[in-house]
Amino acid sequence: MLRDDDIAQQRARFVAAVHTGLSAPQKRLPTEFLYDDRGSALFDDICEVPEYYLTRTELGIMRAHVAQMAADIGPDASVIEYGSGSSTKTRLLLEAMVRPRAYVPVDISRGHLETVCAQLRLEYPALVIAPVVADFTRPFELPMLLAGPRVAYFPGSTIGNFEPVAASALLRRMGQQVGPDGCVLIGADLRKSLAVLEPAYDDAAGVTAAFNLNLLVRVNRELSGDLDPSRFRHRAYYDTEHGRIVMTLVSTCAQRANVAGRRFDFDRDEVIITEYSHKYTLDGFAGLAADAGLAVAQVWTDNAQWFSVQRLVPIV
Ligand code: AVJ
Repeated sequence: MLRDDDIAQQRARFVAAVHTGLSAPQKRLPTEFLYDDRGSALFDDICEVPEYYLTRTELGIMRAHVAQMAADIGPDASVIEYGSGSSTKTRLLLEAMVRPRAYVPVDISRGHLETVCAQLRLEYPALVIAPVVADFTRPFELPMLLAGPRVAYFPGSTIGNFEPVAASALLRRMGQQVGPDGCVLIGADLRKSLAVLEPAYDDAAGVTAAFNLNLLVRVNRELSGDLDPSRFRHRAYYDTEHGRIVMTLVSTCAQRANVAGRRFDFDRDEVIITEYSHKYTLDGFAGLAADAGLAVAQVWTDNAQWFSVQRLVPIV
């Protein structure tokens, strides 16, 4: 699992990212740090709100087509899941696969990962479960030698958090990690009407707002900050030009705050970007994959074409 020096390193990266992000003309906070234990739990709650169509739709696609996916993957394969969260969709995949060998969930949230793995070990006693606590956006080592074909599973449209250059770099590393006999099974959210997109990131119950604001709480706790969450509000909007949701925290007044020994000023209505969530056309996504040395072997969607699950294979 995670060693102490990794933890120190992770904190150092957090400090550096927050200092850099809050010093920039357009302030930013690092997206991957939304997922502490509380953030991961809130994200699970987001998946249940009626406006957040992604999880439901992707689960529907998985239920309808997982047998085909498993057949394409073949027997005796191992699954590496990037940003595994609660591993709900993975259960469908593992149950459909023929003699899956190993499951390697990779997640930045240690507490969440430990809980989920303990549960999975009870459910699948025959499966080797080898978790990795890591930020999957950076190169990491596999915990063991994985014989047989490898599948990189990257559901949830988490790829959408990355701007195109970073997204294709990440996809390229996945392709390299699975090798020429492997594949990448990935969820990619598709473009659709604003009337559907925006409420998905600003639900009426305020769960997404709580998820976003929790980042300030985490910064305060872990980086001795004094940001006042009651003086920021959640705002998410669709940026048509780039085809992405932009999730932000807006300062409701002029204010000043300290984080890890540095001071930051906020104007009234100043915006901190906390997350991008890119939405794709099928052609656009195929282009992104091609940039990463991957070809689209198969696309599965729901009837409304709101979401896609795609199998990508390394171009050899
Ligand atoms: C987990 C990255 C797929 O972008 O839809 C949900 C995160 N942010 N609501 C997304 C998220 C706000 C989510 N991903």
